[in-house]
Amino acid sequence: MITSKELRNKWIKFYEDKGHVNIGAVSLIGDGSTGVMFNVAGMQPLMPYLLGKKHPKGTRLCNVQGCVRTVDIDSVGDPTHFTFFEMMGNWSLGDYFKKEKTKWSFELLTDVFGLDGNEICSTVFEGNESAPRDDETAELLQQVGIKKEHIFYLPKSDNWWELEGTVGTPCGPDNEWFYPRNDKPCGPNCGPDCGCGRYVEIGNDVYMQYKKTEKGYEPLTNKNVDTGFGLDRLLAFLNGITDGYKTDLFLPVIEHLEKASGKSYDDDPEARKAMRIIADHIRTSTMLIGDVNGIVPSNVGAGYILRRLLRRAVRYARTLGIEFSVLTEVSEIFIDEIYGEAYPLLVEKKDYILSEIKKEIDKFESSLATGLKEFNKCIDSIKRKNEFMGQKDPSYKPETEISGKQAFRLYDTFGFPIELTEELASEVGFTVDSEGFKTAFKEHQEISKQQGTFKGGLAEQNEITARLHTATHLLNAALKSVLNDPNINQKGSNITVERLRFDFNFPRKLTPEELAEIEKWVNSAINADVPVTLDEMTVDEAKKQGAIGVFESKYGDKVKVYTIGKYSKEICGGPHAKSTGELHHFKITKEEASSAGVRRIKAILD
Ligand code: ALA
Repeated sequence: MITSKELRNKWIKFYEDKGHVNIGAVSLIGDGSTGVMFNVAGMQPLMPYLLGKKHPKGTRLCNVQGCVRTVDIDSVGDPTHFTFFEMMGNWSLGDYFKKEKTKWSFELLTDVFGLDGNEICSTVFEGNESAPRDDETAELLQQVGIKKEHIFYLPKSDNWWELEGTVGTPCGPDNEWFYPRNDKPCGPNCGPDCGCGRYVEIGNDVYMQYKKTEKGYEPLTNKNVDTGFGLDRLLAFLNGITDGYKTDLFLPVIEHLEKASGKSYDDDPEARKAMRIIADHIRTSTMLIGDVNGIVPSNVGAGYILRRLLRRAVRYARTLGIEFSVLTEVSEIFIDEIYGEAYPLLVEKKDYILSEIKKEIDKFESSLATGLKEFNKCIDSIKRKNEFMGQKDPSYKPETEISGKQAFRLYDTFGFPIELTEELASEVGFTVDSEGFKTAFKEHQEISKQQGTFKGGLAEQNEITARLHTATHLLNAALKSVLNDPNINQKGSNITVERLRFDFNFPRKLTPEELAEIEKWVNSAINADVPVTLDEMTVDEAKKQGAIGVFESKYGDKVKVYTIGKYSKEICGGPHAKSTGELHHFKITKEEASSAGVRRIKAILD
């Protein structure tokens, strides 16, 4: 039996002993540089260094990095798919290459994790017009002790790693590690690329020595190694479990869901699927809201994915027959019992995370039941029409598609993400006209724009939230100055297109005089119309300059520091207004308690 904590520690210790520096984890939210919304692999934040930039921590690095991959969201519910997972990684930035890597990966699997080297299998790249067959790795694998018949050459679709849909990014052939379970081979050709599930993929070593270009691949000056072993899967495998939801990363949650629903995870397949979806989606939502660059549910971008996850969890809570409040309890279990120690920021942001989840649930709760009724009505009416037409004309082809207009109504009136409608439809053998949905969406946008009421446009939203973001920095500074307390810190922040919301530690209610003074302070900064400037500097330099913000959980040489004249200096990812004049006028709309010792201010720009 090995715990998740032991596994993380063993990984780091093994590579530290081999001269690697643990660089810690960064935000789950992508920095936008590759157009990938979330951090999908440990290598993603290291891209500039894999391409040749000097890393401040050296040429041998390792960490455990949270990743979010939502392409497989529909597969969640089976034993092995997750939308969040931790990737254990290590890197050579132009330092060692295949010889050391094959040796160390084998050593880790056999000596540290106790796997039988006679059973381990490996797959290597079979070669194509862009890169040669990887005989070198195959040879080295045999030298370290892998049997020749356990080495398989596979095509690019299996043994080449790159970030899909990007250019200018590092990539290369990889060597994947597999271990066969005790099941019998399904046939004479059963091997690691067989879909029967006998071979468990344990991890992979990518030899990043190419750069992806518009036309193809060009060699990099540096030959790098990029390793990724999924902690969740490896943890299950090392414990002899085939169900990833039965490890210590999920068990307390599954037990809670069993208790709350009175249903058995092991005996009731439908309940099991619902429990897995709830557990996975709430885990990912907790991580995304509680991230250093935490996000909240919205109708665009990453916020929309978060909304989908939470609303899907709500739907499955209904299927499972549990109170919706159990979902926030599940988040609390993840924070208190499972991830709090490894991710202390979650504990710090706990109240905020739970309140954001609750808010989204509340929003959807009331409309879910009526929306489902509406959905069923829509299916019934199509079926009735099919029956009627079929009786009249035996050659009539029955309709099995929900129109774009209907799907849009479910979205607009009942808050059903299109993907939810698609999922519901597929469960009853129907599809959704997604093109029609897009058209209906656009038409609606046009009408609203003409009427001046539309608030969902991405560009417009960005400008409004950037201004509110700048106002948040000013408010943070104003609180310290007016209340004359340098220990006041941000405890949470949330921005919608309508308002900002800012939580901070302070022991009592603010007086009306103080609130007026704070407004005055911020408005004088706005009236001064000072530019908002961005500088990149080291964390130390930022500290020296008196910048406030989150210093932890970040690694790397530079952080972004936003300065607003003499008023504020804060580490932050942005974006911000260009100058304070854009903010027009700042007004506090509410001051209230958020939790013990934490106050909450809501404010608008008018
Ligand atoms: N970048 C490789 C992966 O994500 C290691 O699997």
